Amino acid sequence: MKYDVKKMSLARVGMQRIEWAERQMDVLRSIRQRFERQKPLKGVSIACCLHVTTETAVLASTLKAGGASVVLCASNPLSTQDDTAAAVVKFFKIPVFAIKGENRATYYRHLNAVLDTKPRITMDDGADLVSLLHGERSAQAPTVFGSTEETTTGVIRLKSMERDGVLKFPVIAVNDSKTKHFFDNHYGTGQSTIDGILRATNILIAGKVVVVAGYGFCGRGVSKCAHGMGARIIVTEVDPVCALEARMDGFEVMPMEDAARLGDVFVTVTGNTSVITMAHVRRMKHGAIIGNSGHFDVEIDMKAIRAESVRHYTARTNVEGYEFKGGRTVFVIAQGRLLNLAAAEGHPASVMDMSFANQALAAEFVKKNHTTLTHKVYTLPKELDDEIAATKLRTMGIGIDVLTPKQKAYLSAWKEGT
Ligand code: NAD
Ligand code: ADE
Repeated sequence: MKYDVKKMSLARVGMQRIEWAERQMDVLRSIRQRFERQKPLKGVSIACCLHVTTETAVLASTLKAGGASVVLCASNPLSTQDDTAAAVVKFFKIPVFAIKGENRATYYRHLNAVLDTKPRITMDDGADLVSLLHGERSAQAPTVFGSTEETTTGVIRLKSMERDGVLKFPVIAVNDSKTKHFFDNHYGTGQSTIDGILRATNILIAGKVVVVAGYGFCGRGVSKCAHGMGARIIVTEVDPVCALEARMDGFEVMPMEDAARLGDVFVTVTGNTSVITMAHVRRMKHGAIIGNSGHFDVEIDMKAIRAESVRHYTARTNVEGYEFKGGRTVFVIAQGRLLNLAAAEGHPASVMDMSFANQALAAEFVKKNHTTLTHKVYTLPKELDDEIAATKLRTMGIGIDVLTPKQKAYLSAWKEGT
C-alpha cells in the first residue's frame, strides 16, 4: 500500500484520539452500522481531499465499511493531524497522503496521488480535486460518477462552473444541507476559531475589542462566542441585510477602515479576498492580532504585510510578529491560513458528526443516482437532511412534537381565515 505520512510511530496516539472523536459521532456511527450490513458503496473507489483530522478518520472508516475503497489527502497544507494520518494508514488500511506543513509542490503531489487511484467519487473541501479534474487531469473527468463538496467557498466555485456550463460531472453541495451550514459553520467555526486564537496566543478574550469581518454563518458564530467570553464585537460587512442583522443582534457595525483603529483582535470569515489590506494594517494598534478562518489564505493581504514589514519573527508557535518602520508590530496567526484547523483541531466531533453524516449519505446518493444526475450542483434531498437532524436529536435524548392530522390539514389549507 502506497502512502505518505509524517511518522508511523504516531499511529497509536492518533487511534486513541480517533476513538475519542468517534464516541461523539452518533449519527455517523449509526450510518456506519447500516453501511456494514448493506454495503451500499461496494466496488466504488472514493478519493477524499479533506482536512485530515480525527473526525475525517471516522468518515473514512464509514465509507470503507460501506464497501468503498478509500484514499485520503489533505485539503489544506497546515490542517493535517500527523498522528491521525498515521493511524488511518495503520489501523484502517486506508492510504493517506498528508503531512502537516507540506509545501505547495507536496500538496499537489498528494492530490495527484489520490487521483491516480482513478476514483469514481471525489470528496472535496474547497474544490481542489474538482479543479484538477477540470484542468490538467480533465481527461479523467468522464470516469468520475460525481463529487461532493464540504464548504461554502467550494460550493460558490462549483456554482460558477455550473453557470458557465463547464462542470463535467454532478456535484452534491454538502455545505448546503441545513444540518451542515446551520451547525458546522455557525457553532463549529464559532467555537473552534476562538479555540485556535486561544491556543495560539493564550490571550484573555474578556474586555478585548474583537473585529469580525463577515456576518454569514461562520461570522455570527465567531461573534457570539467571543461576545459570550466578554469581548466587545465590531462586525464589518458588505451585505446590508447581514449588517443590519449584526446590529440588531447587538453588535457594532462599521467599515473595516474605521474598525481597524479600534480592534485588538481581527478575524476574517468572508470567503472573499483582500478583506484586511495593508491600508487597514497601517491604522491598527501596536500589538493587534490578526487571523482568518475563511477557507483560503486570501482574506488577509499577507504579501503586502510581508513586503512592508522591516522585521518578521516567530512570537509563539503559530504566531508571527510583523514589525514596521518605527517599531509598530502586528501579530498574524497561522500565516493567515484557516486558524481553527491550523492552530487548533477544527470543529468538535459532535458537530462534524452531522457534516460527515451528510458526506456519507452524499456518497451513497451519487453511487445510487449517478446515471440520472446531470452536470449540476445538487443539494441532498430534504428527507435526508431531516433524517440527520432527527437522528441527532434522538441521540441527544431530545423528543419533539409531531403534527396531528388536524394540524397537517390546517397548514395545507387556504380557505380558513379568522
Ligand atoms: P457566508 O456566505 O454565510 O458568509 C460570508 C459573509 O461574508 C457574507 O455575509 C458576505 O456578505 C460577507 N462578506 C463578503 N465579502 C466581505 C468583505 N469584503 N467584508 C466583510 N464581509 C464580507 O459564508 P460562511 O459559510 O460563513 O463561510 C465563510 C468562509 O468560511 C468561507 O470561505 C467558507 O468556506 C469558510 N468556512 C470555514 C470553516 C472552517 O472550519 N474554518 C468552516 C465553514 C466554512
Ligand atoms: N472542518 C472544520 N473542522 C473540521 C474537522 N474537525 N475535521 C474535518 N474538517 C473540518
